[in-house]
Amino acid sequence: DWSMKNFIDEQVANIRAEVGSDKVLCALSGGVDSSVVATLLHRAIGDQLVCMFVDHGLLRKNEGDMVMDMLENEFNMHILRIDARERFLNKLAGVSEPEAKRKIIGEEFIRVFEDESKKLTDVKFLAQGTLYTDIIESGTATAQTIKSHHNVGGLPEDMQFALIEPVKTLFKDEVRALGIELGIAEDMVWRQPFPGPGLGIRVIGDVTEEKLHIVRESDWILREEVAKAGLEREIWQYFTVLTNLKSVGVMGDERTYDYTVGIRAVTSIDGMTADFARVPWDVLQAVSVRIVNEVKHVNRVVYDITSKPPATIEWE
Ligand code: XMP
Repeated sequence: DWSMKNFIDEQVANIRAEVGSDKVLCALSGGVDSSVVATLLHRAIGDQLVCMFVDHGLLRKNEGDMVMDMLENEFNMHILRIDARERFLNKLAGVSEPEAKRKIIGEEFIRVFEDESKKLTDVKFLAQGTLYTDIIESGTATAQTIKSHHNVGGLPEDMQFALIEPVKTLFKDEVRALGIELGIAEDMVWRQPFPGPGLGIRVIGDVTEEKLHIVRESDWILREEVAKAGLEREIWQYFTVLTNLKSVGVMGDERTYDYTVGIRAVTSIDGMTADFARVPWDVLQAVSVRIVNEVKHVNRVVYDITSKPPATIEWE
């Protein structure tokens, strides 16, 4: 019969059998899934696991540091940290089509891994936190492709690693339960999901450092206010989007012509369908006031009240 403990035992045995004495490179994204996968692999093969954290500059504020500190200090994992921020920004310059951005980010990830892993010996496998949902939404034989989702669709064909995807039969809530069972702290495991392409698909249209800054800072404010209101667990995902829209506003006596930030907050079971979250007006107001006051070049904040379907959770 199925239990999380059995699942761990089974996966640990599978991983050991498959990997033998080779090394596995685990791509840490900063998110829950890859952290759980790394922890599972670490349990199975210890120091044969090499983790690589590519800082692509598309993470939420403070997120990378927090996760890497936990894995290094609490689990004693060996993590290579690569600063690839410029590399990604250069590749993304002038690109505005969402699928093109996903493809570039996914491919660049693999290129960085390849470049860096050449410096390591014996690495044969690449571990990924692919979930069941990713596989469905990426388009199997029967399902239609909606977005070239996640960690599956974006992989280049000439990739040189064999893939290990130990949680690909699990849904998000099961991955969280697995994380708890593996000893990861609750607040880490209960962080909201975050897409692989990161803030790259939360800046609508072309990505620049300035736009990333706006979305990172506004997102931080939203997270602070949601935490203050104690709503973190009630909302599946909540984030800001930098719309590519500028509109007219007034600040003091001055006319402004600046960006609109969208707030997206949804409730969901697995991300496949979602309902817009009924965030209290006063929380939304606090977020709006703070964003306009604290984040330069934003003069308008809107709340997204569409569910999925017909919208998707992310705007791109
Ligand atoms: P959508 O926007 O399709 O998103 O309703 C459903 C869930 O998937 C996440 N998402 C992604 N995750 N790579 C990822 O790893 C992606 O390209 C990607 N696009 C969307 C999204 O955040 C939500 O949780």
